[in-house]
Amino acid sequence: MVSSHVNPTPQHIRWGVAGPGRAGARFAQGLAAVPAASLAAVWGRTPERAHAYAQRFNVPQVCDTLNDLAAANIDAIYVSTHPDTHAEICLAALTAGKHVMCEKPAMLNERQLTEVLAAARSHGRLFMEAMKPPFFPLYRRLREHLQSDPIGPVGYVRAGHADSSLAPDYPLHFAELAGGGIMGIGPYEAFLALDWLGPLKRVQTMGRVSPAGVDTLALFQSEHERGMAQLHTGLDLLSRGDALLAAPGGYVMIHENWWNPTRATVHYLDARRVELHEPFTHGGFNYETAHFCDLIRHDQLESPEITHELSIGMARLLESARTALGVRFPGE
Ligand SMILES: NC(=O)c1ccc[n+]([C@@H]2O[C@H](COP(=O)([O-])OP(=O)(O)OC[C@H]3O[C@@H](n4cnc5c(N)ncnc54)[C@H](OP(=O)(O)O)[C@@H]3O)[C@@H](O)[C@H]2O)c1
Repeated sequence: MVSSHVNPTPQHIRWGVAGPGRAGARFAQGLAAVPAASLAAVWGRTPERAHAYAQRFNVPQVCDTLNDLAAANIDAIYVSTHPDTHAEICLAALTAGKHVMCEKPAMLNERQLTEVLAAARSHGRLFMEAMKPPFFPLYRRLREHLQSDPIGPVGYVRAGHADSSLAPDYPLHFAELAGGGIMGIGPYEAFLALDWLGPLKRVQTMGRVSPAGVDTLALFQSEHERGMAQLHTGLDLLSRGDALLAAPGGYVMIHENWWNPTRATVHYLDARRVELHEPFTHGGFNYETAHFCDLIRHDQLESPEITHELSIGMARLLESARTALGVRFPGE
């Protein structure tokens, strides 16, 4: 039984980090730009790395165990380990009464996600998958722009990203860490398709799998209630293209790198073009983190932007795409 601090609706949000790696560092960079929030505790599997992180980002408490982090005097935990451990960590955090923002992909599969969402509900805590693009200034501006100068309903999305530059020891190369392009890069694509096209109807996939058991090239197309998407991910090719949103009255190109969006061009039927440019600051995790802090302050248990239903849709799309290629993770 984990004893824990649970604070009634805090205004200043104290964060703990589980997994002080690459994403953990970017979270700390972003948090520095979030008003009324601070990093109060960190737990990592390797104590030296957790201490180095604490020193680098001025974190006052280094926890020896996950249970210590769950019991710490904090309001929320940011989970930035690999996806194979997300469920266990989220369940421990929620059970101890902490709000949880968990890196994408939230869980290994829909079954795990359903279990974690049920725990969030039963403990009355906020759970949100960390999905940064919709909180970026460019994405918000694009939505506003299309409201005031519309192209009609988006009916087709095309997006991809393959990265052959990742080092051989990068986590996405390993099945035991729930790797592969679909799990690593696919969440952003699944988000884009679901966000513009609505709930998922079906998925078709082609691809190849490495001897280590992860997908190294995946082409998947998904049918949604309002249209269709063509998506790709890869670990053995390089492609950092635009994302395309097509509608009857025009189309949008969200330019490279569309998952950290800063520029978009809206093309209209009458050949008009509108260029949008909105840079982001502090690494870009600051926007979703600020949103999450506001939800805590307003006693919200679900983000209206990254809803639980949206996360379930993303999990379903990714699971469907990778299992079609025969990619399964230990324990599945
Ligand atoms: N939103 C984004 O832009 C973004 C960018 C990158 C990654 N991510 C996501 O963030 C997550 C982590 O990726 P990353 O690139 O940051 O990985 P990383 O740099 O390898 O960091 C992973 C962290 O998790 C810890 N860890 C690994 N296995 C563990 C275990 N079994 N128990 C406890 N801790 C464990 C690692 O500890 P050790 O130091 O001991 O290995 C390390 O602190 C993934 O879900 C990824 O998809 C998101």
